[in-house]
Amino acid sequence: MKKVEIKTQITVFDSIEELPSAAKELMEKAIEAKQDAYAPYSKFKVGAAFLLDNGAIVTGSNQENAAYPSGMCAERVAIWSASAQFPDQKIVRLAISASSSSQITNEPVAPCGACRQTLSEYELKQKEKIEVYFMGEIGKVVKTDSLLDLLPIAFDKSFL
Ligand code: THU
Repeated sequence: MKKVEIKTQITVFDSIEELPSAAKELMEKAIEAKQDAYAPYSKFKVGAAFLLDNGAIVTGSNQENAAYPSGMCAERVAIWSASAQFPDQKIVRLAISASSSSQITNEPVAPCGACRQTLSEYELKQKEKIEVYFMGEIGKVVKTDSLLDLLPIAFDKSFL
């Protein structure tokens, strides 16, 4: 028996103002996309923006449904849109921002487990890391250099 330690490195920025300019611009797109969220049930709006290799930016927002499980997270709305429109383009970077109508979200909001699993498929497919930046409404922004930094011990196609 042995214990194995798994380490993940994150970078924490004090605010959006501290981000490198390209990441800041992408986060501004995510914030903009958040306005189009359809979240009448949770009142929690999320925006996601992907930068692709060809310079295209593809955004998405969470879309809810009266039959709750039929809704979808912003990150998956955006990644599937990106892959459907630009199937051969690699993804460089993802920015995520989230806001609640009941409180000011001042802590970074990380993508949910299902989104991490979905996004990991595309990082593995393209064989290049996807930088991920995420924040709440205000305050700190967290960056990981790779999607898989957020999903250690991932399930992937090698098991199939
Ligand atoms: N949500 C996202 O859009 N992304 C996440 O990673 C976490 C959760 C959405 C789903 C739902 O519409 C609302 O936030 C509350 O869970």
